[in-house]
Amino acid sequence: MEYVPTLCFLLSTLFLTASVECQPPPIFPDAALPTKSGYLPVKPAPGSSMFYTFYEAQNPTSPLADTPLLVWLQGGPGCSSMIGNFYELGPWRVLSSATELESNPGAWNRLFGLLFVDNPIGVGFSIAASKQDIPRNQRQVAEHLHAALVEFIEQNPGFEHRPVYITGESYAGKYVPAIGYYILKEKPNGKVNLKGLAIGNGLTDPVTQLQTHAVNVYYSGLVNAKQRKELEKAQEISVALVKSQKWREAADARTELLTLLGNMTGLATLYNTARAIPYRTDLVVDLLNQRETKLVLGVNETMRFEDCSDEVEDVLREDVMKSVKFMVEYTVERTKVLLYQGMLDLRDGVVSTEEWIKTMKWSELEMFLTAERRVWKDADGGVAGYVQKWGNLSHVAVAGAGHFVPTDKDVNSRDMIEGWVLGKGLFGIEDVKPTISSRFMESL
Ligand SMILES: *[C@@H]1O[C@H](CO)[C@@H](O)[C@H](O)[C@H]1NC(C)=O
Ligand SMILES: *[C@@H]1O[C@H](CO)[C@@H](O)[C@H](O)[C@H]1NC(C)=O
Ligand SMILES: *[C@@H]1O[C@H](CO)[C@@H](O)[C@H](O)[C@H]1NC(C)=O
Repeated sequence: MEYVPTLCFLLSTLFLTASVECQPPPIFPDAALPTKSGYLPVKPAPGSSMFYTFYEAQNPTSPLADTPLLVWLQGGPGCSSMIGNFYELGPWRVLSSATELESNPGAWNRLFGLLFVDNPIGVGFSIAASKQDIPRNQRQVAEHLHAALVEFIEQNPGFEHRPVYITGESYAGKYVPAIGYYILKEKPNGKVNLKGLAIGNGLTDPVTQLQTHAVNVYYSGLVNAKQRKELEKAQEISVALVKSQKWREAADARTELLTLLGNMTGLATLYNTARAIPYRTDLVVDLLNQRETKLVLGVNETMRFEDCSDEVEDVLREDVMKSVKFMVEYTVERTKVLLYQGMLDLRDGVVSTEEWIKTMKWSELEMFLTAERRVWKDADGGVAGYVQKWGNLSHVAVAGAGHFVPTDKDVNSRDMIEGWVLGKGLFGIEDVKPTISSRFMESL
């Protein structure tokens, strides 16, 4: 669909008739079209399939067959990876208007292929044959996702050996370890050439993380001592319900706690203390419900897009408070893991992640915990964040960003993911433990 505004304008003024039809300009210029999009059948659930969009690397530095492939998973549970695609890290985004795609200066597909998957089935444009087929635990999530990834690799010749990095945010703090654990444990010689896992502002070890809210907001000056006690009480309710394995009720209690936190602080959103309004995922909803969008992405026109599926959220509610920390412990012995958090997030931020890292059963933990935290500077010399790395584990605190790190800090987030994948910059510094004397030398 080519639109030539001047010609159309000219014709309509010349003839002054309605017979010249002036189409609105397309939302998707050719440059904004994904390389591929469509559906990946999920064999363990016949009739179900996952929707995906794929963007090939813009400036790959290696033959495509060796070029890393990043997979992005949204959280929720139940939210669509199209949020990541069109509002966070994809090459074209809607940031202020649902009908205007803007090129992203920090797109994550500069050097790497980028695959967004609506996971699990029932989310976004993905199709669940029935509610019974929607995964109820992380094992099922991983099985389905693995089937979809294998399908994608098989559909695309030349993808067999591409290094795969699974990335995601928020509730994908469950999905990312789950798929990593499944591949490394059960399909170590399978089709997915897994090379690393990255989690942004993740929920991974909920009981530990939930117990940091009160103290975090208290020492940030957002609540007083009395309110802190009240929050602690709300936290204990959820923890007690977990202890008695009332998973659904425990998840509800966590929601209560977060509502209370929102009420007390009065913030526009707990996802970013600096924002005056919530993140605009509504723009993604409006964009994806346009007829043109469905047409170019290969989606049936009759489908209605929701940013988050209540049905999937309901099915996975039993899973919310369950920890996958043991999966991170297993995977970090076998592949590299990046945990990054925007520092302005009050839901799954830095403090809440550090708290569970400290409790990991990992032979290298002591070394990690005593490793130096380095200041990360951006191109202008400002503080972009902080990087701590030992062996296979990297932790990054991203300055000036909330829950949606790539939305708030597009270029910095891109620099981070590229540095981590390629082992460059602060991620390339040798893990040499400073001895007492070298520490002394440094201080001279
Ligand atoms: C939060 O505030 C709303 C509106 O004032 C109120 O209806 C709700 O009960 C409060 N929730 C909690 C958990 O305090
Ligand atoms: C789109 O979905 C409708 C309703 O499910 C169905 O009747 C129709 O055949 C589908 N169209 C295509 C092109 O698949
Ligand atoms: C770190 O991951 C690599 C693979 O990238 C693996 O071979 C190695 O055993 C892991 N190292 C440790 C100390 O766990």
